[in-house]
Amino acid sequence: MAEQGDPPHQKKKLYIETVGCQMNLLDSELVVARLRQDGYELTDDIQQADAILYNTCSVRQHAEDKVYSALGRIKRLKEKKPEVAIGVLGCMAQKDQDQILRRAPHVDIVVGPGQLGRVPELLARAKGDDPTRLAVSRARTDGSLETITASFETYDANREPAMRPTPFQAFIRVMMGCDKFCTYCIVPSVRGPEQSRPPVAILAEARLLADQGVKEITLLGQTVNSYRYRAPDGRIWRLSDILAKIHEIEGIERIKFITNFPNDMTDDLLQAVRDLPRVSRYLHVPAQSGCDEILKRMKRMYSVAAYEEMLARTRETIPGVAVSSDFIVGFCGETQESYEKTVRLVERSRFKNSFIFKYSAREGTRADRLYPDDVPELEKKRRNNELLAIQTAISLEDNREWIGRTVEVLVEGPSRTSVRREGWDGIDQLTGRTSCDRIAVFDGSERLVGRMVRVAIEDASAVTLFGRVETTEVVATPA
Ligand code: SAH
Ligand code: SF4
Ligand code: F3S
Repeated sequence: MAEQGDPPHQKKKLYIETVGCQMNLLDSELVVARLRQDGYELTDDIQQADAILYNTCSVRQHAEDKVYSALGRIKRLKEKKPEVAIGVLGCMAQKDQDQILRRAPHVDIVVGPGQLGRVPELLARAKGDDPTRLAVSRARTDGSLETITASFETYDANREPAMRPTPFQAFIRVMMGCDKFCTYCIVPSVRGPEQSRPPVAILAEARLLADQGVKEITLLGQTVNSYRYRAPDGRIWRLSDILAKIHEIEGIERIKFITNFPNDMTDDLLQAVRDLPRVSRYLHVPAQSGCDEILKRMKRMYSVAAYEEMLARTRETIPGVAVSSDFIVGFCGETQESYEKTVRLVERSRFKNSFIFKYSAREGTRADRLYPDDVPELEKKRRNNELLAIQTAISLEDNREWIGRTVEVLVEGPSRTSVRREGWDGIDQLTGRTSCDRIAVFDGSERLVGRMVRVAIEDASAVTLFGRVETTEVVATPA
């Protein structure tokens, strides 16, 4: 451990905290990979850090509050140790820009998600007299589409295995930005215009990850199923084409993709999920509301009937598919009646699970400009809890149907409740996911981590299947 008086050639220490979506987790991985080249190593101890980075999210007020309070907590640290460099990265950096430097003057650098390639340079300068502390991309209204798009740079060159969820699971970005402009959502303004990455770049990254031992790849995009790329030879690539190509890569045993936009759930994609056995039979397709008037206000561009048609088509095409959703309760103008329509959609749809959020007004969005945030906080909370309870009861019923069946599980590691003992290779409580993304917990040797096993399910809660390993044979590893 670093102590005062350690030799000066010792590595610099980097402390990083990440909030927000998987896109942010991936961005943090890439930033860390780059900083390692500059001689940094990760530390969990903020007191020991030479650089402290927060990769931030702006999707709800709560996410921003968390970062401002973390910044408040390290103010004293910076006073005691002025040489420590503090950086705010990501969506909040893009949204609030120099406001962050005013509100938290001890912050050295503020870097938006489209400028992360500049983090090393700005960190190095933070110690000198160079006044550059801010690197953000252009606003949507700030020039031609080409100029704005170019200012949100892809930052996907390096990979950092230590930052992954596990050594054999990795994310690949297939799309950046978003052009849907749902009226409540800040993402299109902080992540910039929608851009699909070239298939060659995506496939090269997938091969590299497979060579490094990655078995599960999750493709990321705000509306991942809107992926569309016109190659120089004129060929149009869709997400289904990308899935088929990744499926051919030796070593890749499972492929997932998030998040789907309901209108772009095309038949070619559904058929790819049906026909490619290593693609998870799991689709996250947020509905957001079960009331047509609210959907219209949200500018989601579909009706409840269209969503349900998509859901029926999905289930008809892919037997056994698990679908999950997101909902916002308490959006501007959501009456008790409109909320009840959402309740009924949840009851009819039988999602595997749903993420339920209380509407949080975001400055700069259309909803914030046009509609009063008129559902009281307490009522938002009540609707949130009630809807969650309804979904939980459905998830429990659904999971209980798995009791007595055998599932294939990719083992991720010791379960959170299990105590890990150094160098111990006995029986441990392990966790992993089924092909339809259900969590399974079972006893087994640590050596199973990263492997595919068959688990006989004996019990179930709303979020977890509990079982017993039926065979420790690796059942789905291609030779
Ligand atoms: N691109 C994804 C998800 C984006 S953000 C998609 O389109 O589905 C993740 C979720 O946060 C959204 O699905 C939505 O349910 C929720 N969300 C977004 N903005 C919000 C806001 N202002 N208040 C509350 N929840 C919000
Ligand atoms: Fe936000 Fe809508 Fe884009 Fe999703 S599709 S990121 S909710 S604007
Ligand atoms: Fe948050 Fe940015 Fe993701 S606002 S949800 S971290 S794209």
